[in-house]
Order: sequence, then structure tokens, then C-alpha cells
Amino acid sequence: LQPFEIRNAFAVPFDYRVLFTDFVLRPDNPALADLLSPVGHAHSSRAVIFIDRGFHEANPAVITDAAAYFSAYPGRLKLAEPPVVVTGGETAKHDFAVFEQTVQVLRQAKLDRHSYAILIGGGAMLDACGFAAAAVHRGVRTIRIPTTVLAQNDAGIGVKNGIDFLGQKNFLGSFYPPYAVINDYTLLTSLPMPMKRDGHAEAVKVGLIRDAAFFEWIEQNTLPLSLGEEAQIRYAIRRCAEIHLKQITGAGDPFERGSARPLDFGHWAAHKLEQMSGFTLRHGRAVAIGMAIDVLYSVRTGMLPEADGQRVFRVLNGLGFDFNLGPIDVNVLLGGLAEFQEHLGGELCVTMLQAIGIGVEIGQIDMDLMRTCCDRILHP
Ligand SMILES: NC(=O)c1ccc[n+]([C@@H]2O[C@H](COP(=O)([O-])OP(=O)(O)OC[C@H]3O[C@@H](n4cnc5c(N)ncnc54)[C@H](O)[C@@H]3O)[C@@H](O)[C@H]2O)c1
Ligand SMILES: [Zn+2]
Repeated sequence: LQPFEIRNAFAVPFDYRVLFTDFVLRPDNPALADLLSPVGHAHSSRAVIFIDRGFHEANPAVITDAAAYFSAYPGRLKLAEPPVVVTGGETAKHDFAVFEQTVQVLRQAKLDRHSYAILIGGGAMLDACGFAAAAVHRGVRTIRIPTTVLAQNDAGIGVKNGIDFLGQKNFLGSFYPPYAVINDYTLLTSLPMPMKRDGHAEAVKVGLIRDAAFFEWIEQNTLPLSLGEEAQIRYAIRRCAEIHLKQITGAGDPFERGSARPLDFGHWAAHKLEQMSGFTLRHGRAVAIGMAIDVLYSVRTGMLPEADGQRVFRVLNGLGFDFNLGPIDVNVLLGGLAEFQEHLGGELCVTMLQAIGIGVEIGQIDMDLMRTCCDRILHP
């Protein structure tokens, strides 16, 4: 009974572009037009624009600005439908409403695989609409224009999308690299302070697991970052994006085929805490708490020097994160480790810290010790 096998391997190159520009929708800024329709392109490029409702409420002119932008490039750009406002925030990922709305609009606009879905919004909306755009015709070109710090430095520039399903965060989704990402700092001005701070959690995360120098920079700039100073936030976003992209494009596993989720430090607890809160706990704050737990675990197991652990706590506190969520059932929280493993498939693989800037993947957790660490952080 010898099986007959035809076996081939293939590789697909992706051109991954993250552009940094200001005032992306000002008609005299050609960045978006040049992306959609390079000069000399024979046909006009068709697109539909989806806008996060929270962003729209804070920036009502965005709809007319977007339409005016397209009108300024006749023969090169064409809006296939008027801009569409969709629910933003985690609610966008709770059910199929935003997913379905996006699918309907793309169908109505007769968008094909050479047209563009332009998504303007926070990480949750980008995840939900991006999942729909990846599914329609098995993938409509997607341009992400993130409007939160967290989405500009992390969520918006990754290759993943998804929605929550059956009570589990990101249970459905896909790996679908966007055609391009445009990071425009000026879109962040309307973001309330606590949400600006959320983004810093992901910055601390990449510093801790990948780049000691960047963590030290955050350490020295904790105060201006906590106050929302422009120069520091601009630098942090840019550096985070660089580190993330390096991981995605250079580490050999962009679609996470291996057992590790290399950029998910602190995320097993974060995702479970978000779920336990009925998704009212914002992702950034949850990640800060999740990191605190795993930093303490790293210290208590002797992997990380105590003094380095103290530095991380000082930075998280200095940025304005607090870990008090009221009473939390730690046994339920620990169930997040099993869910994390399930999401990966195969072996448990959790990132801990060996030093500032060096993450280490471990396959076994001392559950009693982890219970103690969760308790210590959540119920001091
Ligand atoms: N795909 C990935 O790789 C990835 C990575 C990290 C996080 N995520 C996901 O991203 C989500 C969190 O994203 P987030 O932190 O960007 O928050 P969010 O998308 O939940 O947005 C937070 C709130 O801000 C509003 N908003 C957005 N931009 C605004 C602006 N400029 N001014 C005023 N209000 C604005 C939104 O409407 C929403 O109410 C989570 O669901 C998380 O799982 C995905
Ligand atoms: Zn995250």
C-alpha cells in the first residue's frame, strides 16, 4: 500500500509597504493616489472607503474629505460607493454585523481583486472589515489607515485579521497581508488620552521581547509618552512599526506556522481578561496587565533579574497603567493558557523574559506559581 504523492513547494513574494505621511486625505498629498494608481497606470482604480464610527464622530468632515480626495484625481481614482461608516471598537468583532455589512458593500460596489477596500479606523474595525475584505473573492486588496496609536504601532501593520466568535477572542480570522498601510499621525489628534496610552502597552511589549535599546528609550521618555507628547508618540509608533515589520518579514514565519506567537508576550492573560470582562476591558490595558503577570513569573522562576522586573513595573506605572480590575477569578484566568495553546495548535508555547529585550519561549508553566503571580498582580 504505497501512497502515491505529488509534492511541490512554492513561495509567494509579498511587497509589504507601510507609509508614513501626514494629512493623508488632503488633495495635495499624492501618497494615497500614488498607491492606488501609480502615475501612468492605464485605468482608474476603484475603491470603497470604510470608516470607523468612533473616528467619524470625532472627525465628521472625514466623509467629505475622502470624497473630495477622490474627485481631485479624475481619471486615476474612482469611488465605487460613497464612504461607509461602520461600528468601531470591540463591538465590531463581537458578531457578524460589521463583517456582513462590509461584504454587502463590496458586493454592491462590484469590487474585484484589483480594486481596493480602504479601511480607516481602530484595530478592532480593521480586524473585522479586514477579515471581510480577505474573504470576498478570496481577497480584495486592502489598504489600512489606522487611527489609534495601538493600531498604528501594532494591530494595523500586522498580517492578521479576525473577529471574536463562540466567546473566544479572534476565534475566526485569517492571515492576509494588506496591500499597504498608511500611518498618518494627524489622525490620532482626536483620540482620548486613555486610548493613546493603550498603544504604549504594545510599544513596551516589543521593546521587552526584541529591543532593549527601545525599552530604554521608553524608560527615559515615560513622562512625555504618558502626557501624549507628539514627538515621542511619533517616534514610538515608527520604531514599533519597524520592529513588527522586521519580525513579520524577516523571521521566516509570517503566518505563524510554527508553535510560537512571537509577538504575543503578555497576551495569553490579556485575551482571557478581555473575554472575562465581556470585552469591556480595552486591549492595550489588558496587555499591560498580562505583561505584568508574565514579568513577575519570569522573575519568580529566576529567568529575569529582580531589578529588571522592577524597571518594567516602573515603566508601566509611569505610563499610567494600573492593574486593579476588582476581584478576578484566577482559576478562570488560568484557563486562558489552555485557550492560547488551542489557538496555536500543538504544544503550549508562551513567551517569557530572559532579559530586557530578550524574549524566551517556554513550553511548561508551573501552574501554582502562575496562580500566585496572577493573584499578586491583580489583588495586591
Ligand atoms: N490583527 C492584529 O494583528 C492585532 C494586533 C493587536 C491588536 N489587535 C486588535 O485590535 C483591537 C484593539 O484596537 P485599538 O486599540 O485600536 O482600539 P479599538 O479599535 O477598539 O478602538 C477604540 C475606540 O476608539 C475609537 N476610535 C478609533 N480611532 C479614533 C480616533 N482617532 N479618535 C477618536 N476615537 C477613535 C473607536 O471607534 C473605538 O470606539 C483589539 O480587538 C485587538 O485584538 C489586532
Ligand atoms: Zn496586542
